Amino acid sequence: MDDIELIKSKINIVDLVQEYLPLKKSGVNFKAPCPFHQEKTPSFVVSPERGIFHCFGCQKGGDIFRFLMEKEGMDFPESLQLLAQKAGVILKRTKNTSSDKRHRLMEANLKSAQFFHHLLTKHSLGKVALKYLKNRGLNESTIKEFNLGYAPNSWESLVSFLKKRGFKVEEALEAGLIVASQKGGYDRFRGRVMFPLVDVTGSIRGFAGRVLGAGEPKYINTPQTTIFDKSEFLFGLNLAKGEIRQAGAAILVEGEMDMITSYQAGVKNIVASKGTALTLGQLELLKKYTDTLLICFDKDLAGDAASRRGIELADKVGFNLKVISLPSGKDPAELALKDPQQWEKQVIEAEPIYDYYLKSVSRRFSLSSAEGKKRASSELLPIWAKITDPINFEHYLQKLSALISTPENVLRGQIDKVKESGTETVNYSTALRQADTDKVIARPRRELLEEYLLVLLLKIPSDLTFVPSFPETLFTQETYRSLYVLLVLYLDSISFKGGSFSILEFVKSLPVEVVPLTDRLYLLEVDDKLSSSKNWQSEIEVVIGELKKALVKASLEKLSAQIKNAQSFGKIQELDILNKRFRDLSVRLKGLN
Ligand code: UTP
Ligand code: MN
Repeated sequence: MDDIELIKSKINIVDLVQEYLPLKKSGVNFKAPCPFHQEKTPSFVVSPERGIFHCFGCQKGGDIFRFLMEKEGMDFPESLQLLAQKAGVILKRTKNTSSDKRHRLMEANLKSAQFFHHLLTKHSLGKVALKYLKNRGLNESTIKEFNLGYAPNSWESLVSFLKKRGFKVEEALEAGLIVASQKGGYDRFRGRVMFPLVDVTGSIRGFAGRVLGAGEPKYINTPQTTIFDKSEFLFGLNLAKGEIRQAGAAILVEGEMDMITSYQAGVKNIVASKGTALTLGQLELLKKYTDTLLICFDKDLAGDAASRRGIELADKVGFNLKVISLPSGKDPAELALKDPQQWEKQVIEAEPIYDYYLKSVSRRFSLSSAEGKKRASSELLPIWAKITDPINFEHYLQKLSALISTPENVLRGQIDKVKESGTETVNYSTALRQADTDKVIARPRRELLEEYLLVLLLKIPSDLTFVPSFPETLFTQETYRSLYVLLVLYLDSISFKGGSFSILEFVKSLPVEVVPLTDRLYLLEVDDKLSSSKNWQSEIEVVIGELKKALVKASLEKLSAQIKNAQSFGKIQELDILNKRFRDLSVRLKGLN
């Protein structure tokens, strides 16, 4: 008997399920209203004999492990661990658990990094690359500390190296080190300087490879793999975290070379986002060390929608944001190399983000013209409207008023309008306001409602314990549906533990593919009034009611089409059934009104 069977034989599924919900005996089985979807008549059945559960309503089912995975949002190894403990079973080292696999992939990365580093520092093949890095100002100890390397310009030197070291082609493929081909696979990185992407704990999650000199693409990165997700990664955090804590601030730059060069020059509280706009995943990483971010990007932050969104996210989760400016045409790597003192000075002189925004519009628009004033204010007023601290608000209102020589009360009026159009959103047009554009995109009302419902759920007031109980079928959009299910699982687990909702914690629990959607929805604005639990609850009820109506209406429309069709083909029997269904549904719709 293996561990799993042993545990199953020792734990009665009825006892386990009873810890979560009361079961009633029903013949040889036990029954209850399903814990995974909302229902009145019980269709959730537990069989002690077979050690399984099954819901005939939502079709969820499985054994004790599955039950915990569903109920507690655990993965399989976690449920195995917990139940082994409960059953008093000591686990043999199991093969092929997901953590073993992750470990293997990181091991493959580590071996590859050693291979690349050896080639760069010791081998004649790496000479050009070494020269390139030295030209860019890196010294030997930096090259060693960052474990930089060189991937030779060949199709299979890494493949065959890894094979010799006992790795399977599949493993190298899964780590993203090679690209699938008919023969198995060829090296992904060829003729490039290699930057190991090391996580906070020191494990190598992937690589970035830069061409020597000019060429496209400039950087090739490990694609998304089981162990690497670009949106949850910050380059250099493993080395910089201590300095970040000490300095009380993290400098955020775009590129690996920016980070490394600054670090070498002695400004070490620095990480790189690898060219992406800030995500919640990255903020979550940083939050452990600091709540102050000094951003230094090549792009103009005010003019770039993705950057603005990242900044808004950071602001919302409580970061204090400043911007480091650079002499034009320079990037942090260049400045840190050529004039480290100047770089240090620029860091010290980082200015609050609002001052930066003011400078940015005065650089881009001609503020003496009416047109320029209009463009500047339409860009800044929505941002100003979100300044929560009143002293801060007055301060920057005055500044803006002076900058575009427009009286404060005019701006105040405009800001009120912006805020009002924000409140209008409570009447379901929230979702119309895309976070990244000001364009109104016409989408079906139902889709907007679904979106708005999720937005509301993501903004559940912290003093409220609420686990929604409506079925996921209320959502027509598949992506919304899956996010909803995950949200319910999470809300359920915190209500169980008695905790309160944390967006960062929730995002951490999500599969990577739903994170961008979550980020986007979390950013959508809702009325301030909704921070009160009472208002929030009644709003939720209204939206759910609306959606239920929409659902019934859609079915009615479909039915009436079917009825027309049945009529024209003279299908009398079918027509009878359809008509009856139509009447029933109409009655239900009336009940909802
Ligand atoms: P940049 O194009 O600003 O490159 O992209 P850089 O940092 O100045 O690079 P160097 O100094 O010329 O070597 C910023 C960052 O975006 C990511 C890399 O992490 C890069 O450092 N990037 C850029 C990619 O992932 N792929 C690319 O093709 C380009
Ligand atoms: Mn750059």
